[in-house]
Amino acid sequence: MTLMKRRHFSAIALASTALAAGLPALAQDNTFKIGLILPMTGQQATTGRQIEAAARLYMAQNGDTVAGKKIQLIVKDDTSLPDVTRRLAQELVVNDKVNVLAGFGITPSAMATAPIATQSKTPQVVMAAATSSITQASPYIVRTSFTLPQASVALADWAPKNGLKKIVTLVSDYGPGLDAEKFFKERLTFNGGQVVEALRVPMRNPDFAPFLQKVRDLKPDALFVFVPSGAGAAVMKQFLERGMDKAGIKLIGTGDVTDDDQLNDMGDGALGVVTSHHYSAAHPSAMNKKFVEAFEKANKGLRPNFMAVGGYDGMRVIYEALRTTKGQGGGDALLAAMKGQIFESPRGKMFIDAQTRDVVQDIYLRKVEKKDGQLYNVEFDVIKDVKDPGKTR
Ligand code: PHB
Repeated sequence: MTLMKRRHFSAIALASTALAAGLPALAQDNTFKIGLILPMTGQQATTGRQIEAAARLYMAQNGDTVAGKKIQLIVKDDTSLPDVTRRLAQELVVNDKVNVLAGFGITPSAMATAPIATQSKTPQVVMAAATSSITQASPYIVRTSFTLPQASVALADWAPKNGLKKIVTLVSDYGPGLDAEKFFKERLTFNGGQVVEALRVPMRNPDFAPFLQKVRDLKPDALFVFVPSGAGAAVMKQFLERGMDKAGIKLIGTGDVTDDDQLNDMGDGALGVVTSHHYSAAHPSAMNKKFVEAFEKANKGLRPNFMAVGGYDGMRVIYEALRTTKGQGGGDALLAAMKGQIFESPRGKMFIDAQTRDVVQDIYLRKVEKKDGQLYNVEFDVIKDVKDPGKTR
């Protein structure tokens, strides 16, 4: 080797050693990583699409640098299989060294991640899953979606006052469905109504036909439904095809069934369906109007649903925690800064209860109506500051 070549070689060697030793570490120190685990394919794919779009919108609107740290969003598809969620969470914590785990389209995925959050002291921001007990699975869980007891109880107060006393419930047979069934029934019974039959359908690939036939034969005043986001259109279609509405059976449910992601394609048969929920794209606040407009603009006209708002607000909770801790401290400091946050969301005012780490929010009664030629869940009543009723026992 000539002297020149040797010099050149050692300069490169030196540079690459410096890179290996110093620069990546420096880059890492200035990066704040959010591991966003979502179902991007499969039955819950709409949830993944909505939440990812909302998270990206939040970043576009609020910048990708907070407290001197560059925010990096790492999106992973768990195909809504909890074993996959667990593996991805493990990899994100161990290999990518994420600062926060977020997303979680369904309850089993949130539950599967809880032990990893606890062991690694990583805050786990649940943006979608809505079984009451999730927040009890790890002290590192904070939720920005809703709970099924929270949404169901409001409807059980409304129904008997509006002539719906004899009701059949139809729910997906897993965590959130069982919560909806239980809390709806308890409250309805307390209010003098009656659940005449409680039907449960499989969570994956349900065939609603035999269940709806049974409901027709029972002739209740109403059918109360909970199915996870993405499955509502199938229920609505089969309900109408069987002429249940013409037989005098009212369809009611939590807002998951008249999901804004699908509602507009359900057709006029959906008009008049009453649901209770924490978010409607038609919520008439200035902030929501801006949110819906920006979301639609960034996503080829896609209307945001309640999953999107859970993702958007989840990002707010993470950004704000990073800002108040000034980018210092680990998972415990971040978690402490997430607790007790109170702010205006596109859904209305929301609050992360410091004791339960769960969301306290307004629950709305809504009716499907046509506005400017499109179907919307139009709010007609509100119950303020609802805590998760699942936590008070
Ligand atoms: C859940 O699995 O917790 C879940 C999924 C979709 C919903 C509500 C709850 O719409």
